Amino acid sequence: MFFRRVKPLDAILATAEKKSLHRSLGAFQLTMLGIGAVIGTGIFVLTAEAAQKAGPGMMVSFVIAGVVCAIAALCYAEMAAMVPVSGSAYTYSYAVMGELVAWMVGWALILEYAVAAGAVSVGWSGYVVGLFEHLLGIDIPNSLVRGPFDGGIVNLPAAAIALLITWLLVIGTKESAMVNAVLVAIKVSALTMFVVFAVPVMKMENFHPFSPLGFGGISAAAASIFFAYVGFDAVSTAAEETKNPQRNMPIGLIGSLAICTIFYVLVAAGVIGSVGAQPMLAADGSGLRPGSAELSSACTSIHDAAVVCSKEALAWTLRNIGWPQLGNLIGLAAGLALPSVILMMMFGQTRIFFVMSRDGLLPALFSKIHPKYRTPHVITILTGVFVALFAAFFPVGVLADISNSGTLFAFAMVSLAVVVLRRTDPGRKRPFRTPAVAIMGPLSAIGCVYLFFSLSRETIILFVGWAVVGVVVYYLYGYRKSHLGRGIVDVPEEDADAPPMAVAPMPGAPAPGSHDET
Ligand code: ALA
Repeated sequence: MFFRRVKPLDAILATAEKKSLHRSLGAFQLTMLGIGAVIGTGIFVLTAEAAQKAGPGMMVSFVIAGVVCAIAALCYAEMAAMVPVSGSAYTYSYAVMGELVAWMVGWALILEYAVAAGAVSVGWSGYVVGLFEHLLGIDIPNSLVRGPFDGGIVNLPAAAIALLITWLLVIGTKESAMVNAVLVAIKVSALTMFVVFAVPVMKMENFHPFSPLGFGGISAAAASIFFAYVGFDAVSTAAEETKNPQRNMPIGLIGSLAICTIFYVLVAAGVIGSVGAQPMLAADGSGLRPGSAELSSACTSIHDAAVVCSKEALAWTLRNIGWPQLGNLIGLAAGLALPSVILMMMFGQTRIFFVMSRDGLLPALFSKIHPKYRTPHVITILTGVFVALFAAFFPVGVLADISNSGTLFAFAMVSLAVVVLRRTDPGRKRPFRTPAVAIMGPLSAIGCVYLFFSLSRETIILFVGWAVVGVVVYYLYGYRKSHLGRGIVDVPEEDADAPPMAVAPMPGAPAPGSHDET
């Protein structure tokens, strides 16, 4: 039965052994890779959404989400160091909890990566549109830069950036370590500049009332702002390129997360303290839902004169405390740096599809390689079209929440997998051991479940619907086609999992997707 369809860990590790990819990343590069993937739309844009849900209490939300991520990262780190192969949570689950769970995790990762790419595209659009308006004086009508749920018709810039990134991926673009380092420097400098200018003008009265919508609001904001931390797991996907992964992987995962958390809490304090961050309320005293037509029209009535209305929260804040040029500068930083997060997410998606296709759970077409560019162009284009559609028509907060639902599911499964594997395979070498795993594993899973159920009802229903479709697709396709189910245990010679960033293409390294699916 499928519950016994567990891919032998030794076969998975043999895949890694056969790799010809060079181990070149150290702890520092991994931390940079993590920061490069993590800092993005979450802090630059969703800060406004978090304020709308929790008011100043969003500072607590940032900490809650950061703590859940840190515990999950400790679990990830044990798996990533022990099973340093591609596919991340999908592969770990396959080895521990069997094919059905692995499939469901892979299916949920589609939400994590593809929908997140859409969310970051919308976030990028908000900043670039703001830059056009404030720097160049070009006012673009809302109907062309916002989706239908957000007071517009179609978000053209968001769809355009998603398609541009798709094209870059099709022609085989990857960021070099140098480009990643520059983008990390831009993001970190922008956030530092924000903190330096916003924190000194903080007024303590802006922190009152601290929690206008109660702990429910703080939890809801934590569930949304969790998005700001997504991406640290991308570090684990570079495990096969890592020198001494046993030591460097946990440092990279936890180091990048710690640095991001410190920045996020400081930035949140700066926004709240300098311009105030009280939510817009409905007549009955409840908070208006971010991304809703009600909030959009309430914002229009006050001429967007509140940070919770802004699509570019940090730039808006700087402009409102008397630094319009710095507002533009932060817009420029977001405009330059966010596309790399989209690239990372979309690359991650194609890689997950590739591994699932290699296992026979998805059609071989998904790993078809372009004859000239040597990239998995079919699945890249398919992914890109969907990402562009999400970006064109949905608000950033809605996409981020949907993405979070898939990510939280995957994280919870990895947390359980760590505990299960300690019992079923206690003798295996564990280069990094999650401290107090009997507590941490369940705690991480509980934290993920808590955040999951703090998401909006619509998001939860959507996730359940997605999961049901996933089960149906599995039975109709993967269950019958699975290589493992058919007794084929692949140990491919080559793989498609060159990391999305940080490693310059090396002479002789296999091209992504060069494995031939049969
Ligand atoms: N953490 C990434 C972001 O905030 C996904 O954009």
